[in-house]
Amino acid sequence: MIERTLVLVKPSGVARGLVGEVISRLERKGLTIKVARTLKVAPETAAEHYAEHKEKSFYGELVEHITSAAIFAMVVEGPSAVKIVRRMMGATNPLEADPGTVRGDYGLDVLRNVVHSSDSLESAEREIGVFFPEGVE
Ligand code: RTP
Ligand code: MG
Repeated sequence: MIERTLVLVKPSGVARGLVGEVISRLERKGLTIKVARTLKVAPETAAEHYAEHKEKSFYGELVEHITSAAIFAMVVEGPSAVKIVRRMMGATNPLEADPGTVRGDYGLDVLRNVVHSSDSLESAEREIGVFFPEGVE
């Protein structure tokens, strides 16, 4: 099934010049970038995006990081895109992420793990609405 998922290059990834690398990997895999933009995330947007983590111990630093500087947000489309992109991004903690994944190749700590990607089709639809409320063609 053709799916759409949300990928964010977090402030740490943008600051390190990894946007092109992430786009390049997704494109070479055969996926399509439907829409993309750089933005500074407002605290309310971060709270909406990370609502599921509100009670977690790391919530404060998560919101602090995502709102600290520009991010790069994109909607990625392709067959089974949600699962395929999650696998390409790698395990949450770079300590456990396999080499060959974005986090395995470029991440060192769990907070600054370079990217976000939606974990299910439902999350993807919700998160795409948060970052692209005007809709995606
Ligand atoms: P993401 O949402 O960013 O794609 O990552 P994920 O599904 O692999 O992990 P999730 O559980 O949704 O966590 C969201 C982000 O919170 C940070 N985190 N810190 N200190 C910790 O134990 C911890 N656990 C998660 C990470 O930056 C993760 O990407
Ligand atoms: Mg997640």
